[in-house]
Formats: sequence, C-alpha cells, structure tokens
Amino acid sequence: MGKTARKSTGILITLEGGEGSGKTTQARRLCERLTAQGLDVLHTREPGGTLLAERLRSILLDHSGETIAPETEACLIFAARRQHVDHVIKPALARGVTVVCDRFSDSTMAYQGYGRGLDLRILRTMNDWATGKLAPQLTLLFDVPVAVGLSRRRGRAATQNRLDREAERFHRKVREGFHVLARREPRRIMVIDSAQPLESVTETVEELVRNWLKTYRRRTSRRR
Ligand SMILES: Nc1ncnc2c1ncn2[C@@H]1O[C@H](COP(=O)(O)OP(=O)(O)OP(=O)(O)O)[C@@H](O)[C@H]1O
Ligand SMILES: [Mg+2]
Repeated sequence: MGKTARKSTGILITLEGGEGSGKTTQARRLCERLTAQGLDVLHTREPGGTLLAERLRSILLDHSGETIAPETEACLIFAARRQHVDHVIKPALARGVTVVCDRFSDSTMAYQGYGRGLDLRILRTMNDWATGKLAPQLTLLFDVPVAVGLSRRRGRAATQNRLDREAERFHRKVREGFHVLARREPRRIMVIDSAQPLESVTETVEELVRNWLKTYRRRTSRRR
C-alpha cells in the first residue's frame, strides 16, 4: 500500500438524547436514506448489538430485585460497549461501512455522570478504556423537553423500562448533561429540536447529514 493510500474506514454516526426523543425512529429513517444513496450501512444500538451485550441490556432495562448501584450500572454498560465495539462496530468501520448507532458514549456521560452523579473523569477514563478511544465523527442530539419525551414513551405503557420509571428530576439532569456535552464539542454534536413534528425533524436530520457528509468527504479527500 502506497503512502497516500489509506485503509478504507467507515463513519460512525451516533444518535443521542433522552427517553422518547425520537432516536430510534430517526435512526431507522437515516439508515434507509443513506442506503438509498448507495452507502453500506449498519444500524445498531447500545446497550446491545451483540449476544452478550443484548443480555446485559436486558439486565440494565428489566432487572428487578436488589437495587443496582450506579457503579454497577456503569460497569455493565462499559462491558456491553466493549463487546459491541470489538465484535460489531470496529469490524464494520474497517470494511468501510457507515455505522449508525442508537446511543453511545455520550449517553453514559449524561445518564451515569450528570444523571446519577458519578465522577465524570472516572467515566471518561473508563469509557476510553472500554472503547479503545473510538469516538463518533458525528453525533445527532435529539433534544426534547423531558415531559414531552416521557409522555411519548408513556403512550406505550407495555414497553416501560427501569429508566423510564426514574423521577422527572433525573431526566432533567440527563437533558442538561447532554447540553453541556454539546456545548463542549459543538463541531461533533449537532443539537436537533425534536419537539418539532416528526416529518420536520426527519427533514432537519436529512439536511444536516447531507451537508455534514459533503464537508467530511471534502476534508478527508484533501488529506489523502
Ligand atoms: N418528532 C416527533 N413528534 C411526535 N412523536 C414522535 C416524534 N419523534 C418520535 N415520536 C414518537 O415518539 C415515540 C418514541 O420515539 P422513539 O422510539 O423513536 O424515541 P427514542 O428516543 O428511541 O426513545 P427511547 O429513549 O425509548 O429509546 C414513538 O412512538 C415515535 O413515533
Ligand atoms: Mg429508542
């Protein structure tokens, strides 16, 4: 391989935000659009994405019995993330696939850090360790008032999970945490007002990703 020929690497796009903010709906639509444009796309989610990580997801979302300490919760999330990164995300990126991931590291900082109050520096160190410092190139942050997001979720009582049942105060801290993260990394994290009607959010995502990809491709082709 010549000096200028770079190994083909895909792009990691993550979707973040609170409960019921529209991540899964928009991830599905984004994947359809990118696939239609001829890209090789993988839609995945956290916690989850591998057999073991999905089992950890069930524990994290459905566990009842003794309470789960915030530290335990964080360790389970990092364990799931490492499996996901090693077995799914990194191999896909190495094949040049565009990976669209529903929640990733920013959720850990927002929920376990700002929400549960765990030390942010420790979380960052552990996250770097768990991901091998793999970070998304683009993050779409779906921002919606807590009450709106929760009411969208509560519309489907059968699918209520352990986190939905947390107090609104917890979810407000999570939302504020996401805002802090977005202010710190404005080039990576794009905030989207997802209190807007569904179709209008979809259009915003489409335009934003189209423009971002154009700039990204221009930048990376210049580097080659
Ligand atoms: N902009 C919107 N306006 C109104 N309803 C919406 C909007 N976006 C999503 N919804 C609806 O809200 C509900 C939750 O959406 P979705 O599952 O995509 O959110 P999520 O962020 O993935 O939630 P979770 O945190 O539970 O994973 C769904 O019924 C979806 O159809
Ligand atoms: Mg979802």
